[in-house]
Amino acid sequence: MVKGKETGGTGWTGKTGGVGEATEVVRKRLGTLKPRVAIVLGSGLGFLADEVVDPIRIAYSAIPGFPEPGVAGHKGELVAGKLEGVPVIVQAGRFHLYEGHSAATAGLPARVFGELGIEILIVTNAAGGVRRTFPGGTLMLIADHINLMWRNPLAGPSQPGEQRFPIMHHCYDSALRLLARTVARDLGIALEEGVYVALLGPSYETPTEVRMLERLGADAVGMSTVPEVLVARSRGIRCLGFSIITNPGAGITGEALSHEEVLAVSEQVARRLSVLLKGILARLILG
Ligand code: HPA
Repeated sequence: MVKGKETGGTGWTGKTGGVGEATEVVRKRLGTLKPRVAIVLGSGLGFLADEVVDPIRIAYSAIPGFPEPGVAGHKGELVAGKLEGVPVIVQAGRFHLYEGHSAATAGLPARVFGELGIEILIVTNAAGGVRRTFPGGTLMLIADHINLMWRNPLAGPSQPGEQRFPIMHHCYDSALRLLARTVARDLGIALEEGVYVALLGPSYETPTEVRMLERLGADAVGMSTVPEVLVARSRGIRCLGFSIITNPGAGITGEALSHEEVLAVSEQVARRLSVLLKGILARLILG
């Protein structure tokens, strides 16, 4: 596959998206390491990749089909090693649909993780608060999502190892969510729980759109995460997700929000989230 080739539209690249080639490159670099958990880092959480013990760093430029990430504050590498004794592979830098990437490209790392045999996918993101009681700085466990991206990485020919019609009930694993709430309580970390809605972006929402999202049942709004979760669910991978609420959604406080504010708040809350993630990994019972 041509590196970074996009066809737009349905997001289907017309091939298997280069999953096999990308996986081969990553597998070779991992050697004997078998990651069991993959963690996708949202903006502000990049430092967690530096905490991986005995890291194997694989730059996106070395992986066929992985474009260079285009958002400031997002790196472009996979980092594999151990966190709290658990073999992990960390994705530092995502491919957003608003950058013009297809849903298939956004979901490609998750497909590679699936081929590598990971059992759990942990996703993190920055999001705007839709629930009126969520101030900037709130940490939210994702209970469920609404896909308003109008794109799906599973569209196109069915891929080996993936269900054609994945069931989306319990999309975010109940047992993992219970573990997250328990660890948060034990560590004294405030953790809300709610529904994440994904929009295409890159414009933030209008106040009327935020009111609409509230009526649809959303608690937080962002522009990522759903493509990789859809891929993971089609492969039977258990998912756990967290949103860092960086700002109240447009129109909730009457103040205009800025991308700088989003980055600054996500960096602060990311410290708390990283403590929570490590607490969860330390208590994870893998099958
Ligand atoms: N809307 C969408 N995405 C976001 C926001 C927001 O208000 N804040 C951070 N990511």
